[in-house]
Amino acid sequence: MNFRKIPAIVIAIMVASTNLSAAEADYNVVPMPLSVTVDAAQQPFVLGSDTRVVTTKALDREGDFLREYISALPKAGAKGVISLDTKLKSDNPEAYTITLTPGKITVSGASAAGVFYGLQTLRKSLPANLDEPVEMPAAVVSDAPRFAYRGAHLDVVRHFFDADQVKTFIDMLALHNINKFHWHLTDDQGWRIEIKKYPRLTEVGSKRKGTLIGRYGAGETIDSIPVEGYFTQDQIRDIITYASDRHIEIIPEIDLPSHMMAALASYPELGCTGGPYEVLTTWAGYKDVLCPGKDKTMTFIADVLTEVMELFPSKYIHIGGDECPKDRWKECTDCQARIKQLGITPTDKASAEDLLQGYVTAFAADVARKAGKSIIGWDEILECDVPQDAVVMSWRGIKGAVNGTARGHRVIQTPNDYLYFDYYQSDNAAAEPLAIGGYIPVRRVYSFEPLTEEMSDEQKSLVMGPQANLWTEYVPTFSHLQYMELPRLAALAEVQWTAPDKKDYHSFKCRTPRLFAIYDRNGYNYATHIKDTDVSFRPDRQKHALVMKASVYPGHQLRYTLDGTVPDVASPLYSEPLLLDKDCVVTAASFAPDGTRGTVVSDTLRISKASFAECTLAYKPYSPFAFGGADALVDGLCGDDNFRSGRWVGFLGDPCDVTITLPEPTEISQVGFKTCIVWPEGALEMSRAEVYGSADGKDFTLLATVDNPEQDPAQKNGAYAHTITFDPFKAKAVRVVVKPCAPAGIWSRIIFVDDIAVK
Ligand code: ACM
Ligand code: ZN
Repeated sequence: MNFRKIPAIVIAIMVASTNLSAAEADYNVVPMPLSVTVDAAQQPFVLGSDTRVVTTKALDREGDFLREYISALPKAGAKGVISLDTKLKSDNPEAYTITLTPGKITVSGASAAGVFYGLQTLRKSLPANLDEPVEMPAAVVSDAPRFAYRGAHLDVVRHFFDADQVKTFIDMLALHNINKFHWHLTDDQGWRIEIKKYPRLTEVGSKRKGTLIGRYGAGETIDSIPVEGYFTQDQIRDIITYASDRHIEIIPEIDLPSHMMAALASYPELGCTGGPYEVLTTWAGYKDVLCPGKDKTMTFIADVLTEVMELFPSKYIHIGGDECPKDRWKECTDCQARIKQLGITPTDKASAEDLLQGYVTAFAADVARKAGKSIIGWDEILECDVPQDAVVMSWRGIKGAVNGTARGHRVIQTPNDYLYFDYYQSDNAAAEPLAIGGYIPVRRVYSFEPLTEEMSDEQKSLVMGPQANLWTEYVPTFSHLQYMELPRLAALAEVQWTAPDKKDYHSFKCRTPRLFAIYDRNGYNYATHIKDTDVSFRPDRQKHALVMKASVYPGHQLRYTLDGTVPDVASPLYSEPLLLDKDCVVTAASFAPDGTRGTVVSDTLRISKASFAECTLAYKPYSPFAFGGADALVDGLCGDDNFRSGRWVGFLGDPCDVTITLPEPTEISQVGFKTCIVWPEGALEMSRAEVYGSADGKDFTLLATVDNPEQDPAQKNGAYAHTITFDPFKAKAVRVVVKPCAPAGIWSRIIFVDDIAVK
């Protein structure tokens, strides 16, 4: 049906009974294409399940995918055709152009992969309901990805997912234009790939007796439910073909020399002590790793890597290299003999045993090179000299990428503070399934910029692309896996594919309903926090007020109150940023189209002499807990027990050292702030606070200090208020320094601080 030809009055009647826009395609999909130009003057193409798809032989498979994508539509009875070709001239092999005219849709790729991504865009452009033929507005869509490496990692060790589930995972990646699947196949808790030369790896190593109950560190109880499973080489070949049909390359990971307890349980002679060893039932705490002092271990490494490389066509093999304790190597006569034989001498930065890992990495790189391939390793490989062709996968933040590129390595960005999908995705952890910790909501994934400001242009050119990782210690089922991935994978897709000037979080959010409709049609389980109440606050210095801004999901409404009452459907409707310049309790909630209220978000604004003032930090906040940064310390809003709320600002190692410039010289005699204790995250009480005043904004005088030298081990998680009073001082600026406690045995020294109230 073509609405454009019908008189307006008739349209008005029809709109009342049907949803005009619902039957129209929208090419602004996820990830957002480079350019979409709609020609409203032309008639649309009408798409139905009977639309003819014309391809060359080489694009038969793409044609079949397209037929499958449109098969749920009713017949259109129309004559138009969709033609697929690879005639597009572009430097980017994954580029495509879709030209839509009333009679024909042409998807032209620079390669079959380009055509495939064009089809993903067509598929995602369809309305949520496929119960009538779809009008495809005349348009030209031109698109190409920003990064050639667009990865997703899956750990099938900690929990096992079978071949059909892995294929569904691959389908999920294809839908998001992801082209690399990093498959984590071996670890302490299981060996999941058949190796013909070492059959015990799967006979013994693929099975564990049980699994830790609850969170690691909170108890030692192991259930008695066996976990086992592995992929035969035939299954793997089948999965490789399945992925390759969807233009996805699989990069296998054999994690070595650590994370090898399953291999050691199978072949104890490969360890320093000779065992006995067991496939681990818990998530860490081991000291046993491969023994590089023994020749048979090095032969094992070469044999396994060679067999894996013969199986996988990828030009990369991931050799792990992360988290390798050196305790056994220090005591092992074979390892010490190897150190001597290699003439390894310790340096200021690295012990001989640290450098021995460099020998293992170089050995693996050599094996790969002989097979015409390159290794990828976690960023620990940079702790030694590492062959130039090794690719560094930066996971402990971005520093592996910054340091790796500075040393001329190609890198993949997979920082654990943005792209670890095993972290919590909601600030309400109590309402979520148990996760490993942290807080990475969709918005934070979306905000990641892989080419970081710390890099020169030359370094940036060595960034292959970003990747998200899903470790499955706390992900026991495939449905849970989907919940952890979706829709964070959608935000990742835009980080990987979309040009930076096309990126906008609110726009992204508004483009997700059609994607979610595909999730629904495919039966994918996904998180829906993105639809929930989403408000943010920022001080406006000029107006001396706090601005509340909301990002409202399509079809939803945001309502608010300023008196502490819970909003209902009659409360004021948010339509534009709200200026708050008086003490109040601001409470907001989103309402779904059916009137269901989302999470009620409430904040108390208490304006002090420091509120909305200019505020600078001497030390950068710790990236995962930076939230609103300096502004959050003077926004007049106070954090509560929830360290993920966005009110708190966390500092790792460094103190919170903040200087607030007051709008005009003002008499002050009190400073208040809160700290937040979160034992599992390593966030503890302050050890000392100092308050300085300055009459001119330059020279500062110490006004008061408070000491709390010891962390009280009984202090519970939660927010604690601190008030410091001193003799009145006329200040232009006030500096507050809050230092963290550092009790023995706690690795981190995080201090969470919130709102600095000056009176
Ligand atoms: C890692 O997360 N251990 C690479
Ligand atoms: Zn050894």
